[in-house]
Parts: sequence; C-alpha cells; structure tokens
Amino acid sequence: MSAPSVKRPQVKPWIDAIDPYVPGKARTGSGRVAAKLSANESPLGPSPHAVAAMQAACIDAHRYPDGGATVLREAIAALHDLDVERVVCGTGSDEVLHLLATAYAGVGDEVMYVRHGFMVYPIAARRAGAEPVEVADRAYTADVDALLAAVTPRTRVLYLANPNNPTGTYLPASEVARLHAGLPEDVVLVLDAAYAEYVSAPDYDCGLSLARTAPNVVATRTFSKIYGLAAERVGWGYGPKPIMDALNKIRGPFNVTAAGIAGAVAALADQDWIAQARAHNDYWLPWLAQQIGGMGLETVPSVCNFLLIRFPGTDGRTAEAANLYLQDAGFILRWLPKQDLPDCLRLTVGTEEENRGVVAALRAFMDRQS
Ligand SMILES: Cc1ncc(COP(=O)(O)O)c(C=O)c1O
Repeated sequence: MSAPSVKRPQVKPWIDAIDPYVPGKARTGSGRVAAKLSANESPLGPSPHAVAAMQAACIDAHRYPDGGATVLREAIAALHDLDVERVVCGTGSDEVLHLLATAYAGVGDEVMYVRHGFMVYPIAARRAGAEPVEVADRAYTADVDALLAAVTPRTRVLYLANPNNPTGTYLPASEVARLHAGLPEDVVLVLDAAYAEYVSAPDYDCGLSLARTAPNVVATRTFSKIYGLAAERVGWGYGPKPIMDALNKIRGPFNVTAAGIAGAVAALADQDWIAQARAHNDYWLPWLAQQIGGMGLETVPSVCNFLLIRFPGTDGRTAEAANLYLQDAGFILRWLPKQDLPDCLRLTVGTEEENRGVVAALRAFMDRQS
C-alpha cells in the first residue's frame, strides 16, 4: 500500500522568490557593540522635544492611536504646504512603498527600479506578485533614457530613489520631469525622497512639485533619517487623491503608533534641530570624502548623509577585507554585495568622534596593506 501523500501549506512562488532585506548591522561579528555607520541614521539623534513628546505619549499606551494620524498629517501638510487629504502616513516610508506596489501591480505586471538601488523595491514588487525589473544606471546615477527604454505595456510602477541609496547621487528636477513626460500615463512614478532634507543642490526637487499636479506621481518621505526617528517607523507619501485613497484602503488601520505620531509632530516643529543636523552633515560629508579620497580610494559624489567608497581590490585592499578590519576596530559599515557593489562599502556620516575614528582605522587598513 502506498503511503498517503502529505499535504503542506504552499508558499506562493512570488513570495518564495523574495531575497530578504538585510538591515544594517549594529554589532560586529564577535557581538561587540560598535559605532553603527551602516544604516544612514542621524548621528544627532531625535530632537529632545520629540523625545519628551514620545515619553508623554507612552502614558496612554493602552489606547489605540488615531488611525488617521490626523495631527501628524496636518503638521506635514502645514510645513510643506500640501492638501492634508492627500497625505498618507505609513509604518516607515517602507510601508507606503509596499502599499503602492500592492495597489497598482500584480501577477503579470512589471515594477521597475534602478540597479544599485534600495532593496525594498524588488521585495515590494514580488510581494505584490509582480515581476521586478532592474534597469542599468550610468555612473552610479539613474539613467532616464535606459528607464524609458525599459518600459513595456506591463510596467505598472517605477520606483526612483532621489537621491539614491546606496550611491548618494541624484537626478536634477529637469531629468525627473523628462522621465515623467516620457512615461505612459498609467504608470505610477514613485519619487522616494528619504534623504531630501540633506540636499542643497539648486537643481534638485524632492518630488512634491510633480506629486502636487501629476495624476500618476507619488512622493514619499521619512522621519527615519534627518529627523532621527528610525526606531519609531514613521513615513509618509503625497500624491493624487485617487491613489492616496487606494493606499488608505489597504494600509494597517493603526499603522503609526501614538508615540510615533507625537514624536514626529514635535520633530517637525523643531526645525532648528533639523538645521543643526544638516549643518553637521554639510561639514562632515565633504571632510570624509576628502580624507578618504586622500588615501587613494574612490568615493562617489554624494548629496546624502552617507558615502559610497570603492576599493581597488588589489593587494588585499578589498571591500570585504576592509569591512572586517573596520569591524575589528569598532566601526560597522555596510558592505554591498547584494546591491551588486561587492567592491564598495557605504559609510554613514557619524558623530565627530566616529568620523575621525573611522578615517584613522581606514588609513591604518590601507597602510597595513602597502
Ligand atoms: C531610499 C530609501 N527609501 C526609503 C527608506 C525607508 O525608510 P523608512 O521605512 O525607515 O521610512 C530608506 C531607508 O534606508 C531608504 O534608504
């Protein structure tokens, strides 16, 4: 008699195909806590006013938060001069990015993004059942012609991180406008501006201008970077009413916590703190680029709070070896083989002490090899 066949739950093949997101490490291989320069967090931390607001909010932790995050959406709309009805908050901007693929792409559709990009885009595409389509970049920057050439009748969503993580490069507003003009009107263009607050280039736009007027553009933002609230998981998106209404239908009903709402509102109100964080970055980013460039290492020009460093790969000077050496010295950077950058490390701008320390350790690594 043949054994009865055993039935097991079958994961959907498009979920099975997901290459899981790997977060920036906070500990070295030996488990030692080290300077975490691997996740593009703010070295200044959150505004003290945000901390106080979050502490106060915890008293009511037994109550569900306002599912509409109304005070937060109102504060965002006031600061950026937006229509509050078109602001949707998320559990980090990650959630908003996922919601967009879920609402607008599915089995048989394509979701496009640029090579050397943010790891959430292919995950969001596959989670929706759609096919991720990675498009070649040019000089570590999005290539508008290549993106437009890759559009097919199946393209439903195009994610553009502007500026881009992990390269730190950006597309000027004119190029984003050209991309938008060349896209079919039924493709949702998602302009992910997680690092917008760091950018001072006069030809840059965070995407809100297009999102205000175009029927197929959504701009996304986060409180995880310059606002220093990564642990609270608060982000938001802005776009046309029909798209934002669709996202509201499928988001978690209480997707932003009460502490997150309170902290983000207080953080928005403390723009002096944001100016300090920007000034810190404006000083230390070029300092790091100059110091590291002086060691003969290539760095990609960045407008963000991080720097992509390319290693020659000769005489033991590989990114992988540098990564291990720096970990031993107490500094965790991000090695990027999964983003097809095995010869690169990404370094987040840290405190003065961390910046000076990581430069000294990197110099020791380079000297050791010569
Ligand atoms: C380009 C980009 N977009 C979005 C995010 C997501 O940020 P969060 O979900 O913390 O808002 C990140 C975080 O690293 C990012 O680098």
